[in-house]
Amino acid sequence: MSKTPTDQALFEAAEAIRAKAYAPYSGFNVGAAILADDGKIYAGCNIENAAYPQGNCAEASAIAAMIAGGGKRITRIYVTGPGTAPVTPCGGCRQRIREFADLDIEVISHGVDGEPLIRTLDFLLPYSFGPEYLAK
Ligand code: THU
Repeated sequence: MSKTPTDQALFEAAEAIRAKAYAPYSGFNVGAAILADDGKIYAGCNIENAAYPQGNCAEASAIAAMIAGGGKRITRIYVTGPGTAPVTPCGGCRQRIREFADLDIEVISHGVDGEPLIRTLDFLLPYSFGPEYLAK
């Protein structure tokens, strides 16, 4: 599959930060790159912890980078990991993405030895709960 220029840049950002992942327990390095509403790319990797539940997913790290860097909304997100199966965001990260994205954004999930899978957030997290439910 040929990638668009944007997806190529997101892929490269995700792969560059994936090399820095701290995943000594799973050995499963993940990278995530967000194209934000400010036109910038924000990236993050997974960061595990000896107390396992305290680990961070790559998507959570990328969202933290976006917010710290001044981005407000996710317009596209690309996740990379090892293997041939698409590395799709975990359930918790789908909800994290939901906080900062419209339902029609595309999430690209890519096990780098295989083909990328492109699905909308709405497809990955149907009937979801979001910030608008709490709007006053
Ligand atoms: N992981 C992510 O960072 N993002 C995903 O989308 C899937 C899983 C991480 C969590 C953990 O550090 C490792 O991959 C194995 O589950």
